[in-house]
Amino acid sequence: MKADRAWLPDAIDLDWIESASAAIDPALGAIEAAAAPAGIPIVDRHTGRVLSALAADRRRIVEVGTAYGYSTLWMALGQPADGTIVTVDPDTERTAAARRWWREAGIADGRITQVSAPALTAFAAADPALAGPFDLAFIDALKDEYGAYLDELTAGGRLARGALVVADNVLWSGRVSGSRPAADGDRVTVALRAFCERVMSDGRFTATILPLGDGLLLAAWRGGGEGV
Ligand SMILES: C[S@@+](CC[C@H](N)C(=O)[O-])C[C@H]1O[C@@H](n2cnc3c(N)ncnc32)[C@H](O)[C@@H]1O
Repeated sequence: MKADRAWLPDAIDLDWIESASAAIDPALGAIEAAAAPAGIPIVDRHTGRVLSALAADRRRIVEVGTAYGYSTLWMALGQPADGTIVTVDPDTERTAAARRWWREAGIADGRITQVSAPALTAFAAADPALAGPFDLAFIDALKDEYGAYLDELTAGGRLARGALVVADNVLWSGRVSGSRPAADGDRVTVALRAFCERVMSDGRFTATILPLGDGLLLAAWRGGGEGV
């Protein structure tokens, strides 16, 4: 089907969506204010709202790439009160700051488990916190490792049946589709394109990409695993 290209949402639409949405938790605002000057990349607010909605009935979440815990907090606020999140990031300075903001937001101790190691090392070490099964996996760390994270989730038996796999930055500012040129030998673009094509052609997933922020891949797992 041909897309209707006569209209695409612009900044005014996005501002209206924001003005019509519920006010954000002050801790989320504090993270936004701290992340920008520190040059810490976090998901945009619209993506945060989507993550929060997706987390609504997902009790066991795993996240790869915590940073200041912004996406973690959106998901924790959307989850049922007894939901848990395991989030992985080797940068302990960032993740210590994240803990303070989660506390400010009133997230109960014990709901969020932090793993302070590179994700592939932690998965390979069979860290019990990462055993799963998980109902939602959010991937937002090293872009050229997305495929390897996915292997750990699928072949590693860490996804419950019906689990969602969500990954940020998959359009990579237009370089993945080619709408904007990538530099010669840009291995991140090549890796992200291969990751997207692999997930979207894998019959065990029902998958698409939301053109939101820098591109959000959304894939429902139909493979093996326990029911959600
Ligand atoms: C884009 S930021 C995450 C942002 C966060 N998801 C948010 O939206 O609030 C990527 C994070 O991945 C972390 N990272 C880098 N290498 C990693 C690895 N091998 N495994 C897990 N995390 C890694 C970085 O320290 C950084 O904090």
